[in-house]
Amino acid sequence: MVAKHVLSPCWKAVEKKILSVGSGDGSQQRALVNLTGCKNLVSTFFDSRKDVMRKYPDAAESNLAYLSAHCRSAPLFHIDATKSHEYFGPSFDCAFFTNPHLGIFCWDPGCKSAHEELLYDSVISMSRILKPGGELHFTLKSTSFYKSWHSSLLEAANKVGLVPAPPEHFYRLPGHISRTTLGRDKPKSNGRIPNSDNATTFVFQNVDEAADVLDEKIADEFWTAYAA
Ligand SMILES: C[S@@+](CC[C@H](N)C(=O)[O-])C[C@H]1O[C@@H](n2cnc3c(N)ncnc32)[C@H](O)[C@@H]1O
Repeated sequence: MVAKHVLSPCWKAVEKKILSVGSGDGSQQRALVNLTGCKNLVSTFFDSRKDVMRKYPDAAESNLAYLSAHCRSAPLFHIDATKSHEYFGPSFDCAFFTNPHLGIFCWDPGCKSAHEELLYDSVISMSRILKPGGELHFTLKSTSFYKSWHSSLLEAANKVGLVPAPPEHFYRLPGHISRTTLGRDKPKSNGRIPNSDNATTFVFQNVDEAADVLDEKIADEFWTAYAA
């Protein structure tokens, strides 16, 4: 069964324009489109199409074909989340990055700082492609290794004035297979993320200041008229 906090944003998704970055094998994106009928999903991949096909040979071809057939935009490749604002204007209601990871490991030198940079720069850049009221969804596994990156996520959101919102998200939709960054490129791996249930989604909203000002104006007029 799909949990309510997962379904709720999905129903809303039908009408929305959504960007997915770091889309793995495309299964989460396919699941979202399949569940909601949303056609305005732009699925992007850091890798080339050829690399996505090689890393996830069991699913990528069919997922990419599904997304091309059902979405207004075909999947896009070589898209770096930290440069999102260089490819897109401020036109999205929602942008999400599930299980951001560089494919390097905790014992590799500079691993922590490289991931902190990925998260920080992605939030800063992706905040610039949101419409007023738009949301960023970042899902991270909840082990201490991943938790050590959380502060950069929060720091970046705070810097650009995004505010935390309820944790409704698109994670764990039926059909979504959480993938490792290296997929089949890692020897003896089936490319699936172990224990992918253990994850937290952070949602940040681009608060619509213009709407707030408008609301205050309407409220003022209302109270003036009421008092008269
Ligand atoms: C652990 S995998 C998760 C894949 C997928 N989101 C999922 O949940 O199955 C991490 C993903 O982040 C992508 N990635 C790494 N650096 C990136 C960057 N700078 N911009 C966009 N995606 C990136 C990788 O290509 C990979 O697809």
